[in-house]
Amino acid sequence: MARRRQIYEGKAKVIFEGPEPGTLVQYFKDDATAFNNQKRGTITGKGVLNNRISEYLMTRIGEIGVPTHFVRRLNMREQLIKEVEIIPIEVVVRNVAAGSLSKRLGIPEGQTLPRSIIEYYYKSDELDDPMVGEEHITAFGWSSPQELDEMVAMSLRINDFLSGLFFGVGIRLIDFKIEYGRHYANEDMRIVLADEISPDSCRLWDLQTNEKMDKDRFRRDMDNIAEAYQEVARRLGILPESGPSDIKGPQVMQ
Ligand code: TMP
Ligand code: ASP
Repeated sequence: MARRRQIYEGKAKVIFEGPEPGTLVQYFKDDATAFNNQKRGTITGKGVLNNRISEYLMTRIGEIGVPTHFVRRLNMREQLIKEVEIIPIEVVVRNVAAGSLSKRLGIPEGQTLPRSIIEYYYKSDELDDPMVGEEHITAFGWSSPQELDEMVAMSLRINDFLSGLFFGVGIRLIDFKIEYGRHYANEDMRIVLADEISPDSCRLWDLQTNEKMDKDRFRRDMDNIAEAYQEVARRLGILPESGPSDIKGPQVMQ
């Protein structure tokens, strides 16, 4: 098959032109970066696992009525998505102190937050994705106040849903990053969940042992990174060995 035209290459994914207008193909690479490209590496098999995990989570999120860009998985590393205009904001939702929050505010990692906290980061590699507030987002027109309200409401629903989903398979959802896009259809515009949700963009800790099952293993030079991603997929019942028809669904832990 002739190679599709590449539209964009990011750190962990490539976006190609889709088979029909209004669609794109999202390809998941094994490349990993951290600290805005200062640390680079390859995690063999990561792309295959993230494709599956993101497919699974986006599908479940769609089922509770939150619109997403996901259409269907095409193969081991590619998924068909709706073409959207990405809103240049990374929305981070936190349930437990970790990472940059712990560093910035001196709150010990692992401390449960009094309530879920939402933060925004402006997507800019040159500026190192600076943290911004609602005032910056609306004043500079990165999103309208209405769009921001919608993103907050969707993010809180996604957080509650994913927290429960992961809890059911023995994993604590510490925090995660999501992105949104504007999807134009006919005369309508809808804000939809975009990008990916995977161990690259979440902190996932084993409920019993607090073991890290996410990209922090790479950020912190720990071993068994691919194995940790694979364990997340296994617990969700979506190991790539099983064909699309025999997805078992979550395995409930006691
Ligand atoms: P942080 O504690 O480093 O700010 O990260 C918060 C969450 O966001 C964590 O789950 C990792 C995720 N994240 C990304 O997906 N991409 C990024 O560029 C950063 C900085 C964090
Ligand atoms: N994704 C960011 C980077 O590549 C940061 C991170 O995830 O730690 O540099």
